[in-house]
Amino acid sequence: MKFYITTPLYYINAEPHIGHSYTNIAADCLARYMRQLYGEESVYLLTGTDEHGQKIKKAAQQAGKDPKEFADTVVEQFKHLWKVLDISYNDFIRTTEQRHINTVKRVLEILYRKGDIYLAKYEGWYCTPCETFWPSSQVSKEQCPDCQRPVERVKEKNYFFRLSKYQDWLINHIHTHPCFIRPSVRSREILSFLQQPLTDLCISRPRERLSWGIELPFDSSYVTYVWFDALINYISAVGTFDSQDRYHSRWWPADLHLVGKDILRQHAIYWPIMLYALGIEPPKTIFAHGWWLMGKDKMSKSRGNIISPYTIVERFGVDVYRYFLLKDVPFGQDGHFSEEAVIKRFNSDLANDLGNLVHRTLSMIEKYLEGKPPKERECRDREETEIERKIENLPSQIRNSLSAENDFNFAFALEQIWELVNMANKFIEETKPWILLKEKKTEKLERFLFLLLKAIKKIAESLQAFMPQTARVILEHLEKEEIKKGKALFPRIR
Ligand code: MSP
Repeated sequence: MKFYITTPLYYINAEPHIGHSYTNIAADCLARYMRQLYGEESVYLLTGTDEHGQKIKKAAQQAGKDPKEFADTVVEQFKHLWKVLDISYNDFIRTTEQRHINTVKRVLEILYRKGDIYLAKYEGWYCTPCETFWPSSQVSKEQCPDCQRPVERVKEKNYFFRLSKYQDWLINHIHTHPCFIRPSVRSREILSFLQQPLTDLCISRPRERLSWGIELPFDSSYVTYVWFDALINYISAVGTFDSQDRYHSRWWPADLHLVGKDILRQHAIYWPIMLYALGIEPPKTIFAHGWWLMGKDKMSKSRGNIISPYTIVERFGVDVYRYFLLKDVPFGQDGHFSEEAVIKRFNSDLANDLGNLVHRTLSMIEKYLEGKPPKERECRDREETEIERKIENLPSQIRNSLSAENDFNFAFALEQIWELVNMANKFIEETKPWILLKEKKTEKLERFLFLLLKAIKKIAESLQAFMPQTARVILEHLEKEEIKKGKALFPRIR
């Protein structure tokens, strides 16, 4: 068993915001979860940065730096944020690294030799900020269909990759692999786009127009189009080509490419076709998540409506931030971000439900049993057996929710955990332990506390992937020889 999971490579023209952190938190949660299931050495989480292209060159110029020097500083900001957010990546790849450049050149050579890359004259529309060519059929009012900024008319010779040659293969692959593109609404979206004939992809930029990129190995007057360059990271990080052009890697095929819905086309069309042309297996699943919105708009630097993850982490803590992003919207849909929404979730789910349960249980053990962990006892009552059954079933419920078939439904997995939290809280209220104590029903009191501890332990273990620090704090409490109530985990915000 192995699980290879990737995040997009982030452009380094701007500091990371909540939207970027979302993909990495989701990827980290899955990676941690898979490590718990299959062991540390079975999981590889790859993230990194996309450092070539006009956007980066321009940002560097504005900062008065050369692109590489500029990249070196911004990369540190990304790495710092990932550390703060507990992102347990195994590898961080930068597209300016030699291992990546070598692989990109090798891919270009192989495809050129094979005749899948050819030189042709191009005339059409070009969006410089997006670095994308647009056919006239998609451009109206001389505006980019993606970013709505003005497009330019360009006329130049360029190299093209024969996407069109493999269109039928791709359509068939999507039809026969229901987990290839998820959620299924995105799969349908791609299939509907594929009803039109694909235009071949322009994969070069003349050096005189754009110099910050990887040189084409067969024509030094061109550099590689940034998307063609960047997608290759997923194989350049984890393997190599042999002298017969065969690719070898312990990790490939990727089990999951996590991306935002805005970059699905590149991942679900260009990338699988590139791989197929190279004779490399396609990834198992490409999952497109939704956007975090501010009001009606996508949170993004160009719209100037970004919130820094640090603001939220400083106020509420990392785990609260992780919990909110994973719980507040089903994975795949858009969500609205606001501090009020975070506070609401904090007070209800964390302070009221989870925090209260842990605090009450630990205090009862401190008070009724002088901190001594209760001995194991068999369940007797119906309520007790129900909780016991829920504890036993929880792992498979989480496993189901976090499968590709169920669209890695973090929110639903958390709901399953909270079902146990709520059952345990109700159990306390209904059992009324202070009466048991008064009536000296010690056996029942111990049974009650034992079961609560067992429930909390399962809850903490299940939360490890979602809220690693919180889970650790709870488990540490439980491992002590003398249990004390300690500080409240999530004091209510008023
Ligand atoms: N460099 C390309 C990806 C190349 S992958 C080989 C890129 N970079 S990006 O920095 O612009 O975006 C990276 C990711 O952040 C994308 O998956 C994008 O969807 C995600 N997000 C950016 N803003 C977002 C929100 N407001 N909400 C959720 N995710 C969003 O594209």
